Amino acid sequence: MSYLMLRLLCIQQDAQSPLSTGRLTFRYDNRIGKLFFPFFFLLLLLHYYNCLNQNGDIPKGDSTKGAKLFKTRCSQCHKIEAGAGNGIGPNLHGLIGRKTGQVEGYDYTEANKSKGITWTDETLFEYLEKPKAYIPGTKMAFAGLKKKNDRADLIAYLNEAATS
Ligand code: HEC
Repeated sequence: MSYLMLRLLCIQQDAQSPLSTGRLTFRYDNRIGKLFFPFFFLLLLLHYYNCLNQNGDIPKGDSTKGAKLFKTRCSQCHKIEAGAGNGIGPNLHGLIGRKTGQVEGYDYTEANKSKGITWTDETLFEYLEKPKAYIPGTKMAFAGLKKKNDRADLIAYLNEAATS
C-alpha cells in the first residue's frame, strides 16, 4: 500500500519535473526519482520482510481436532483444568496472556522461567513447532508439531480450554 502511494507520488512529481517528457513514467534521471528510488526499495524490502514474519499466516484452527491432539500429545504431561494441579509439566490453565514460567509450585527450568515472553497464539505457534529451539534448555521432552494446521488446531483448543 505504502509502496503504491509513493509510486503515485513519484509519477506525479515526474510529470511536473522539467525533465519530464510528460509521459507518466518513472524516470530515473529525475531528482525526486533518484531520491525516492532507494527509499522505495527499502520500503519494498521492509514490506516483504514484514509479510514473511507476519504470523498472520497461522491457519484458522479447529478446536475439536485440537482437543484430540491435546489428549494424545500433551495430556500425559499437562493438565489444563483449573485447579487440577501440575503433572510432569505445569498446569496450562490460564496460559494465554501469561508470561513464561508463572505456575505456582511448579519447578521450572531456569530456561523456561527466564524466556520472558507472553504466551499468545503467535508465540505458541512458534514454540510448539520445536520447543527446544524456542526455549533452549527446556526440560519439556517433546519434539514438536511440524504441521502448521496441527499447531493451529491445538492453539484453538488451548484458547478455549485454558480459559473455561
Ligand atoms: C513429556 C512431557 C511433556 C509433553 C508431552 C508436553 N509437555 Fe509441555 N512441558 C513439559 C515440561 C516438563 C515443561 C516445563 C519445562 C521447563 O521448565 O523447562 C513444559 C512446559 C510447557 C509450556 C510452558 C509453560 C509455562 O508456564 O511457561 C507450554 C506452553 C507447554 N509445555 C505446552 C505443551 C503442549 C501444548 C504440549 C502438547 C503439544 C506439550 N506441552 C507436551 C512437559 C511436556
